[in-house]
Amino acid sequence: MSEQTQPILVLGGTGKTGRRVAKRLVDQGEAVRVGSRLGEPRFDWEDPTTWAAALRGVRSAYVAYYPDLASPGAVDTVGSLAELAMHQGVSRLVLLTGRGEPEAELAEQTVRASGAQLTVLRSSWFAQNFSEDYMLEHVLRGVVALPAGDMAEPFIDADDIADVAVPALTDAAHIGEVYELTGPRPLTFSEAVAEIARAAGREIRYVPVAIEEHAAAAAQDGVPPEVIELLTYLFGEVLDGRNAHPADGVCRALGREPRDFSQYARDAAATGIFSRHRNAAA
Ligand SMILES: NC(=O)c1ccc[n+]([C@@H]2O[C@H](COP(=O)([O-])OP(=O)(O)OC[C@H]3O[C@@H](n4cnc5c(N)ncnc54)[C@H](OP(=O)(O)O)[C@@H]3O)[C@@H](O)[C@H]2O)c1
Repeated sequence: MSEQTQPILVLGGTGKTGRRVAKRLVDQGEAVRVGSRLGEPRFDWEDPTTWAAALRGVRSAYVAYYPDLASPGAVDTVGSLAELAMHQGVSRLVLLTGRGEPEAELAEQTVRASGAQLTVLRSSWFAQNFSEDYMLEHVLRGVVALPAGDMAEPFIDADDIADVAVPALTDAAHIGEVYELTGPRPLTFSEAVAEIARAAGREIRYVPVAIEEHAAAAAQDGVPPEVIELLTYLFGEVLDGRNAHPADGVCRALGREPRDFSQYARDAAATGIFSRHRNAAA
């Protein structure tokens, strides 16, 4: 199989970033193998016996771990995947990690130690958390209740992450790079919600809550316990201002500025996602 006909594996290929990465690759005429529990062959992080078939014959792989590299056991799991990938001749890996998370940096080191030709996409909070994750329920209720105080975050648009991931998977010029991917400006959660409210044309408020209150409400909303534990860590420890400053990763990788949050809010609002319940009730 020539390199051109070898597929590119996109782990998390049905998720917020992976779905966008896979679509861009397909649009470019690349062969893509989506790695997820619904993929063919099935890929499950919790079942290493599924990994070899997913990696077989692929040319490079986008690695978006779930739920987070800060989750218990994640560093070892991702390290084992990288070793297997090397063993199967898949040396080009693009690893999605979180900014300011010591465990994520440990995962980067572990994958690098496997000998992989690695590109790291070290990303800030995704803007799409408001429209493609549990926070959408808050937006639809009109009250976004989060334990984020008045901390600022330079939310990154998942479309920008995908725009960087595609050349990283296909062009050797990006091997060895660590791209810190953020939006162009820090916004408090109050400012971010105000942008969404403006774009959606509805009243939506941000209400800061205690971390325990958030965890209890998330449990009531059906968020799985391991994800609540992770959110409690991210809001309680990582969101302390260490990541508030924007970084230049999008510009370094693509030679253009990242998309602004207001653009994300307008694009997401135009799909009707922020008005789903109201439309359903109408
Ligand atoms: N969200 C953020 O703001 C943010 C910021 C920085 C970094 N990150 C990193 O981004 C990564 C993904 O996070 P996300 O929140 O955006 O999630 P996501 O990619 O939207 O997560 C869902 C994806 O993970 C797959 N998945 C779930 N459980 C799986 C399993 N057991 N085995 C294989 N695939 C599984 C899902 O596919 P199936 O359900 O089809 O299996 C789906 O493709 C994490 O490593 C996180 O650290 C996230």
